[in-house]
Amino acid sequence: MKQKILVAREVFPEALERLRQHFEVEDNQADAILGVAGLKARLADKAGVLTAATDPMTAEVIAAAPSLKAVCNFAVGYNNIDLAACTRAGVMATNTPGVLDDTTADLAWALLMASARRLPAAERWLRNGEWKSWQFIQWLGSDVHHATLGILGMGRIGQTVARRALGFDMKVIYHNRSRLPADKEAACRASFVDKETLLRESDFLVLLLPYSPESHHTIGAPELALMKPAAHLINVARGGIVDDEALISALRQHRLAGAGLDVFEGEPKFNPGFLELDNVALTPHIGSSSRATRMAMAMTAADNLIAALSGRRPPNLLNPEVL
Ligand code: GLV
Repeated sequence: MKQKILVAREVFPEALERLRQHFEVEDNQADAILGVAGLKARLADKAGVLTAATDPMTAEVIAAAPSLKAVCNFAVGYNNIDLAACTRAGVMATNTPGVLDDTTADLAWALLMASARRLPAAERWLRNGEWKSWQFIQWLGSDVHHATLGILGMGRIGQTVARRALGFDMKVIYHNRSRLPADKEAACRASFVDKETLLRESDFLVLLLPYSPESHHTIGAPELALMKPAAHLINVARGGIVDDEALISALRQHRLAGAGLDVFEGEPKFNPGFLELDNVALTPHIGSSSRATRMAMAMTAADNLIAALSGRRPPNLLNPEVL
């Protein structure tokens, strides 16, 4: 008899097809947000679940799933999963590292360029019919080339963002919990600096660290105050790493030139203060959203679940101590 699994959000039919070869699959192609109550109800008899970053795999949900053996996120971030609770319950947890590095780095660059050259505000102005004459001193932005790119969180995606900076002749500095080995630093021509130097010297600061209670409000009013008034802040990591209220206040007072944000505190709701600002580029958490990459993420998560429930070690196991 096939084991029962849940796919908690809508995914590509190709991924469901692969899973159906191995499991009895309950899908959610209607894409309802299940939340704690919905997950608890559906997981009571399931051996595995494919989850998105929006699915709260809390201790309460895990406790309500006595047959659960694996939680496989189709995301690289996994702050929606209580990893300690999974381990205590003997449940394997996995994510999808690697397959989304380039696509997410591309979006970081799109937001960086949009913020530097004020694209959202310029487009709104054009669409509103306000372009009456071309002027020499108009829509002046910031140069990206030869500027200093700072990266906070120098994992795979951070390094991918850094490598793209070579084409813009930028100086690259970074801060990370641990310094990269010399060959990796050389590959992205990046220099390790302390966090304060990073904040003070970056013209463009890209955040790429994972969210956890320890990284909550890593960038708040004191950190923003250290940044150059001409600097831009780019967040493609997670909401909550930045204190959004403090950022809005800095942008409103032009203590920071601009920001490019793909993630927000409390998303999909977000602070309406952002909508009143012309110096911010906003996207709705689409960092990994190309068709090819989202397909690769779904298939990676499916492969992790197939391995976990067939007695093999899943390729992207987050809590190996569970084995
Ligand atoms: C998306 O935010 C991810 O963590 O993959």
